[in-house]
Amino acid sequence: MPVNFTRVASVDDLAEGRMKSVKAGFEQVCLARVEGRFYALEEFCSHAGGALSSGALDGYEVVCPLHGARFDVRTGKQSVGPSMTGQPTYPVRVDDDGGVFIGPMRGGATLGASFNE
Ligand code: FES
Repeated sequence: MPVNFTRVASVDDLAEGRMKSVKAGFEQVCLARVEGRFYALEEFCSHAGGALSSGALDGYEVVCPLHGARFDVRTGKQSVGPSMTGQPTYPVRVDDDGGVFIGPMRGGATLGASFNE
């Protein structure tokens, strides 16, 4: 595992279709499991700071619990406002022992776009 990846959970910590707030260094991250894969976004919504892991997961979209913005967990791209930008994401890797690791935040948002484009 690259040195800049941080172990944040085990595969068994998160059931399919669920989310969990985890810490990676000083950053709070929303970890989601969809179709057996893990995805990571900045925990606090880019609109007004809602805790995304407390919201709902609808397929590949996380729904902010405060005002309903929707972000694709794969890209961070916003599909429904009121947020004005996408949500930062993190690369996720799973090792042979079932450890879930998060790498450095991806950056570069524009209006309604993904941070990863
Ligand atoms: S804080 Fe997330 S939509 Fe307002």
